[in-house]
Amino acid sequence: MDLERRIFLKKACGTCAALLTLGAIVPAVQSCAPLMSIKTDVKSGDIQVARKLFTVENKLVLIRNASSEFDIAVVQLAEDRFRAFEMQCSHQANPLVATRTGFFCNAHGSSFTLEGKVKNPPATASLREYPCRLDTDVVTVTL
Ligand code: FES
Repeated sequence: MDLERRIFLKKACGTCAALLTLGAIVPAVQSCAPLMSIKTDVKSGDIQVARKLFTVENKLVLIRNASSEFDIAVVQLAEDRFRAFEMQCSHQANPLVATRTGFFCNAHGSSFTLEGKVKNPPATASLREYPCRLDTDVVTVTL
């Protein structure tokens, strides 16, 4: 084998290996990507979130607004079914941590499902829920 052919094969194999590695890493990195978080204003008691923010990989959007001490999590549970929860633990009012599979409280270990129900005590009550509706391309949460 001549030298040019060896160099070509070495470079081509290195490129293929890099592409295969990237193909394996990109989906893993996407699942670890931070949750979508937006800041928005309350208008006439409502918060509006663009429906396009919810994707196959991203079913939860955290909303921050100046008029509320706690974030609000808007969760897409089905194609046209959304629910909104206050990120305040129902046990002793600690802020919750949102994950792709539910909500967790660092204070005493309570956890909640994406539907706001208690998964692990000491909390016994579901999360505070806000009315939520989908109007074509906007999800509206009423505070
Ligand atoms: S305040 Fe959340 S578990 Fe106690």
